[in-house]
Amino acid sequence: MDIKEEIAQLKQQKDFVILAHYYVDGKVQEIADYVGDSYYLSKVATEIPNKNILFAGVSFMGESAKILNPEKNVYMADSTADCPMAHMIDIDKIEQVRKEYEDVAVVCYVNSTAEIKTHSDVCVTSSNAVKVVRNLKNKYIFFIPDNNLGHYVAQQIPEKEFIFHDGFCHVHKSIEANLVQNAKKIHPDALVLAHPECTGDVLELADFVGSTSQIIDYATESTNEKFIICTEMGVFYELSQKNPDKKFYSVGHRQFCPNMKKISLEKVVEVLRNPTNEIVLEKETIEKANVPLERMLELAEI
Ligand code: 13P
Ligand code: SF4
Repeated sequence: MDIKEEIAQLKQQKDFVILAHYYVDGKVQEIADYVGDSYYLSKVATEIPNKNILFAGVSFMGESAKILNPEKNVYMADSTADCPMAHMIDIDKIEQVRKEYEDVAVVCYVNSTAEIKTHSDVCVTSSNAVKVVRNLKNKYIFFIPDNNLGHYVAQQIPEKEFIFHDGFCHVHKSIEANLVQNAKKIHPDALVLAHPECTGDVLELADFVGSTSQIIDYATESTNEKFIICTEMGVFYELSQKNPDKKFYSVGHRQFCPNMKKISLEKVVEVLRNPTNEIVLEKETIEKANVPLERMLELAEI
């Protein structure tokens, strides 16, 4: 039996479902039951019947799945796969801003720890942030932790006042504007598709800005044949699966998230054989962190 057959058999025997983010290796995306962006994966986690979830992604994604489904067991393919941005904000800073501004909503990008979510009013992902923030009544928005996504959202909602934090994604930050300009010179008829975690000068060069799913959908629906992709290279797998005849270019260096790329088929099968790396959170943390996550699901669907 090869590794893929063993994964399929163990999933069935042990009532597991595998969720994978678009940034993990294509081989892992291939064996997953559901693949998507952070928003899709949070939603899907609330709809599946299986008792056990194996998450091929970074810790905040597994934590969100557990918070939204406390009765399920959530296991990480690799317990050390973590997003550095999730740790770039602390509770003292949130408390300080709450004291300074009366009518403030603490808007927390899902790329954050469960503890930070317990101190937030609402969560957002890159695909729903503009919609969710627009649906809030508050005048002031404290957007944590991602500075770039925060500025992107603020640009679309000039009627609100934003307080920004200085968190960032090192992968998207490394996609510099001069690299994008070079790629445009080499491929002048390609459209530039960028994730809102990129810096503002890169977003200005983009023909389209969106989450990983939105980038894939845009390229799939477009009549254009060539695209410069400004996000993590894992999306190239689904882009090519859906569009075998279209051309996708990186900006000329490795757009590589070392944490997402820790996940391999070998680690997936190992966790299925011997379930480890379970997400364990205090009952109180789950209850409090569930509030901003559920609020996001509600406001994103209005
Ligand atoms: P998506 O919201 O497109 O899933 O991207 C978030 C991200 O950076 C995952 O780490
Ligand atoms: Fe975090 Fe960036 Fe990796 Fe996403 S790509 S998990 S934001 S480091």
